[in-house]
Amino acid sequence: MTRPFPEGFVWGVAAAAYQIEGAVAEGGRGPSIWDTFSHTPGKIANGDNGDVAIDHYHRWEGDLDLIAELGIANYRFSVAWPRVMPDGRTLNPEGLAFYDRLVDGMLARGITPLATLYHWDLPQALDQGPNGGWLARETAERFADYARVVGERLGDRLSAVTTLNEPWCSAYLGYGSGEHAPGLTDNSLCYPVAHHLNLAHGLGVQALRSVLPATTGVSVTLNIHQVVAASEEPADRAAARHADLVANRIWLDPMLRGVYPDELIEQTRHLTDWSFLRDGDTQLIHQPIDFLGVNYYNPARIATAVPGRPTFPGTDRARGVGYGPEVPVTVMGWPIVPSGLTDLLLRLHKDYGVPLQVTENGIATQETLDRSGAPIEIHDTVRIDYLRDHLGAVLDAIAAGADVRGYYEWTLLDNFEWAWGYDKRFGLIHVDLESQERYPKDSAHWYAGVIAANALEG
Ligand code: FCB
Repeated sequence: MTRPFPEGFVWGVAAAAYQIEGAVAEGGRGPSIWDTFSHTPGKIANGDNGDVAIDHYHRWEGDLDLIAELGIANYRFSVAWPRVMPDGRTLNPEGLAFYDRLVDGMLARGITPLATLYHWDLPQALDQGPNGGWLARETAERFADYARVVGERLGDRLSAVTTLNEPWCSAYLGYGSGEHAPGLTDNSLCYPVAHHLNLAHGLGVQALRSVLPATTGVSVTLNIHQVVAASEEPADRAAARHADLVANRIWLDPMLRGVYPDELIEQTRHLTDWSFLRDGDTQLIHQPIDFLGVNYYNPARIATAVPGRPTFPGTDRARGVGYGPEVPVTVMGWPIVPSGLTDLLLRLHKDYGVPLQVTENGIATQETLDRSGAPIEIHDTVRIDYLRDHLGAVLDAIAAGADVRGYYEWTLLDNFEWAWGYDKRFGLIHVDLESQERYPKDSAHWYAGVIAANALEG
């Protein structure tokens, strides 16, 4: 059976600066909180860091050639704030010029760029002392300045600018569970941080609109958790509702409705007094966007918290629980539930009525290279199956009425997978980390075929 995608469906691949660029001390780049964090012993698997990564800073032309050869028409990349503004405030022309060349390089190859401004690499200079980083309201203002600078220089050649990538990770993993930079572990900090990220989005959209041509869109990318209660028990259902407020509606409601849910504020009062929320803030956060970017890997199955067991990040009321053995998991331990993506897209459509694009979806594998044969082939059928099933889930959501306009696979090349280091390989293309050689996996050719047909076959 052939299942076509709508005409004009946006096909792409996604990546992020710190995961691929390397060259952390070149071109005038300043350190970011991820440089500091990844050099802190014990934070990253195998003691890995992004110093060299996959050397995209030097190999970007070849990498863009690979995208073009696969017929992938859109590339979601991120701009590193510490390259453009090494101290978070002062322009580094050399850093901005790198992205200028990168964008021109895409256009020269027929690739349309979608730029993310903040994929977690906050300039370290903005995170000094106990109340710095995203605990400081001022960081949102600095972000707006940065957004304006990038929008002014690159905006005429981008399909859209995305303010933030997955602020949930920045707030809850960065300040609650400590798995991400800056590595703090205090749930009460997550809420002012979330608010300042929301403000950064709102101020950033305003700044972008003042400089972008009308044809360039503005968006934000959220990892909305498809929350399901682990049982019908009232306590588990209440925990799931609470997790939805904390993980999802804390972004969706102010950004798309101009208000924080009363229930969210009530249910987190024991952690924070919300004094960081000032009059007029939610109106500032509530700026029109052209589409909502949705990153989906797996759903979140939620039960009520149990003393002594780990809780869902940022809250003491809920915990995540696994599925039974009937649901397969990836090498990350993430359950594979494609229907969760359909449910999520339909929920966002119904509750928020906003155009959607899937801005990340993909799977990690741990393949090793077999050099015995020539040419080197990598048979990652598990990735092809994952992508086929999730693209089918996107089609199901479209058939049921959701306005889904695009899909960006995560990711083109194996890269630095944050706290997991280099072991977990998400790429359509294998990277030999010693030689930096790139080898397309079977999934790369399969994905190219889907794009060429604008349809799922079989
Ligand atoms: C998302 C991140 C992305 C990548 C994937 C696997 O949370 O946005 O950078 O690491 O997960």
